[in-house]
Parts: sequence; C-alpha cells; structure tokens
Amino acid sequence: MSASPARPPVPDWLVKPDAANALVEGVWPASATRDDDGVLQLAGVAVTQLKERFGTPLYVLDETEVRARARRTRAAFDRAAAAHGTAAHVYYAGKAFLSTEVVRWVTAEGLAVDVASAGELAVALAGGAQPGRIGFHGNNKSAAEIARAVEVGVGSIIIDSDIEISRVAEAAAARGVVQSVRVRVNSGVHAETHDFLATAHEDQKFGFPLDRAAEVVARIRELPSLRFDGLHCHIGSQIFGTAGFRESAARLVEVHAQLLAGGDVPVLNLGGGFGIAYTAADDPTPIEQLADGIVGAVASECASRGIPVPIVAFEPGRAIVGTAGVTLYEVGTVKPVQASEDLQRLYVSVDGGMSDNARPALYGAQYSARVASRTSPAEPRLARVVGKHCESGDIVVDAEYLPGDVAPGDLLAVPATGAYCFSLASNYNYVPRPPVVAVADGSARVIVRGESIDDLLARDAGVSPTEGTA
Ligand SMILES: Cc1ncc(COP(=O)(O)O)c(C=O)c1O
Repeated sequence: MSASPARPPVPDWLVKPDAANALVEGVWPASATRDDDGVLQLAGVAVTQLKERFGTPLYVLDETEVRARARRTRAAFDRAAAAHGTAAHVYYAGKAFLSTEVVRWVTAEGLAVDVASAGELAVALAGGAQPGRIGFHGNNKSAAEIARAVEVGVGSIIIDSDIEISRVAEAAAARGVVQSVRVRVNSGVHAETHDFLATAHEDQKFGFPLDRAAEVVARIRELPSLRFDGLHCHIGSQIFGTAGFRESAARLVEVHAQLLAGGDVPVLNLGGGFGIAYTAADDPTPIEQLADGIVGAVASECASRGIPVPIVAFEPGRAIVGTAGVTLYEVGTVKPVQASEDLQRLYVSVDGGMSDNARPALYGAQYSARVASRTSPAEPRLARVVGKHCESGDIVVDAEYLPGDVAPGDLLAVPATGAYCFSLASNYNYVPRPPVVAVADGSARVIVRGESIDDLLARDAGVSPTEGTA
C-alpha cells in the first residue's frame, strides 16, 4: 500500500556505536539493566521471563518510573508555584496512556486527571479519580458526553467552540448545577516550529483565537449555570526548552488580566507537551527547569500588570508515562536491503508494528532499539525495524545500529513507548492488541489483558449475531 513519508536515508544524529548493546541513559526506565548473561531486566524482571509468561509483542510499563515521574513533576510545579505565592494543579493527560491501574498510580501521587472522551472519563472514574479533579477536553464532545461529565461532577469542562457553550450550559441547567468551565484559546505559539510570529487566527480545529476570548468569556459569564474559571492553552507536544511555553504564557496572561475586569479568574491552564528522550539525540529539559521557567514567566507577567498570580495548571502525559514504557518484540526475519549504491541496511521484521505503535507511520516519530535477550560483540549494522503489516510505512524504528548478527528468535526492546502507543493501537490486519504488563520490584502483572483472535471475531456480526442483525 502507501509508502512512508519522505525521510532522510540515515538521520544525521545517528552515531555508529562500538557495540550496539548499551542502554542509553534517559531513554530507558531507570530500572533497566542487563544481567550477567546480557539479558535486559526491567524493574528486576528478565525480558526472557516476560516473553515466556506473556508472549510478544508486549507492552511493559515500569510502575516505579511512572510514579517517580508523577511525583517529581508535581513537586516541581508545587515548588515553583509556592515560590510565587500560588498553587499548581497537575493533571495527568490520560490520552497518553489510560488504564485504571495507571489512574491509581498517578492519583496516589497527587495528580488530577485530564480526559477527552466518555470512554476516558469512565476509565478515570473506574480507577478512582475524584470527579472534581477531572478536566474534560475535546473539540466535539457529544451531548451524551457533556451530560455524563456534568452528571458525575467533573471539575472543569474545557469549552472549545461557541456551540459548546450552550450545550454545556443547558446540560448543567437541566441538572440544576453550576458547571465550572475553562476556555481553550490558541496563543499562536506552535510547538512544531516555535514560530512565535503566527497569528492567533490559526488553521486548526482546537479552541478560540485569543482575540475572541473576551467576547466568549463574557457570554459564559451571563449564563447562570456556568462558572468561568480560567483560560486553557496547549501549544503542542514533545517540546524541549521553556521559550515556547513562556511566550505562550505571556500572551495568555495579557488576556487573563483583561478578563479580571469582569470577575474572578482563578486558574490559568497552560496544557502539556513536555518532551522526553526517544533516542540518544534527544535532550529533554528537566521538569524543574520547565516548572521554574514557565511559572516564573506567568508570575513576572502578572507582576508587570499588578495582578495576582493565578493557580497554574498543567497537563503532562508523555512526560509521565513515555519513558516508563518498553515494547518487547520477537524478531521474525532479517533481510539485507541495498537502499542505494552506497547504503545497505538490515530490515529487521518483528511480530508487531504500526498496530501497536502508530507514531512512526503517523508522524515520522523516531525510536531506538536494542536486542534484549543477549548482548553481542558483532559489528553494529545499520538497521530498520519494521512490523508485520501490509504497509511499507509500517516502521517501528526508522534507523538504528543493531548487532550485525541479529537473528530470528532474538527479543528486541523498543524504549520510550509508554505514551501514545497503547492508546493509539489498532487491529490493522486483524492483529490482536498486545497486553500491558506492569513491572515493579521484581514482579510482573497484567494491567490490561491482550486481545485474542476470538475477541476480534466476537465483533463480527456474521459470527456473533448482535441485536439488529438478522
Ligand atoms: C489539551 C492537551 N493537553 C495535554 C496533552 C498532553 O500532551 P503531552 O502528552 O505531550 O504532555 C495534549 C496532547 O495532545 C493535549 O491535547
């Protein structure tokens, strides 16, 4: 079928190592080590054992890593906010990876939860998240989703369009409650380009242009069933450095200050998007630096306008779960391919692919990989790890050096797959979705069961007739 988006034959950041065995710091969970036989251990559990018990492909999530990142993120923002006489609310962006167990971990570490559909809301509630500490997002929430969010008492609904104002107001009025809402605006700062000159009139689906905020908020304030509690903005994802966030914060505070003339504005929500390391080339900004830089920018903008510093809210997803996830695959075939006159690479096919990790096919995301069942003294060779699906763009790791003797039966581990892999998974080619196993303190347990082919057949009305089928 279709070819992958154009990529350079070899990314210029990729460096050939002396041996392709080392676990690059920051890309893997802190617990990742190799034992004396060279077998990768995650939280003290050998990947060979994981393969034996749960099969491959397998999503492995390091509980200690998720919790530590949640705790550290919360502490960083709490401290930064306290330094400016305010408080911080950190929401975990559930779209990155949501299961009841993960909800339990992050809420136990003091995070609120951010959801973007009735399904995510149901998981958050089933995981014990307090409704009042849930934010509900989406550019096209259905009437049923809005009704459910209001009914369970979510802490805030993030309004994304004019039409939604009346929908939420009516749902709240029908239940005799006052619903807190935030208004999503576009600051004109783009993560992709850091093009700070972009206007607020953006050609994309989320939120309101910044210059409409006053009018939108005025309308909300006239509706007795709504309580406006602040602006919301999310500038994008996988962002390094503080500059984009600080610029966006400055633009938002200007509008936030104007809105104070019409009433209280307790919160300013600056979204998520903090970057992580996917490969050795990535150098993410420490969360403490981000917290100090962004909250400091909000505080200094407020000081220059003589207004109080609002509660600051953030919504990291990837930065909490991304590095905690490792996907295990088994190598099925290895094929040398002459890519051009002077470039040969090994195509290493694994037993999963774009159905368990859509990110490389969706937006050219780069990953790294290691043979996980052994180390090897073999000369590293340029490899491309590909999946088993009927798409030439079915790439798991675009470019990586792997031991030249990589062979069928080897286990391959791809790190930094905790975010947006499980949550974007599909059944393309009727491949069942893998289980998710949590590892901690030397033990492993299933937190989301894998699918079987029977699960997939059960949805086929020709096999399992359902209501409405003859
Ligand atoms: C509104 C909003 N908040 C938070 C996030 C989380 O982003 P990240 O996982 O990059 O932190 C997203 C991601 O798409 C988002 O759209």
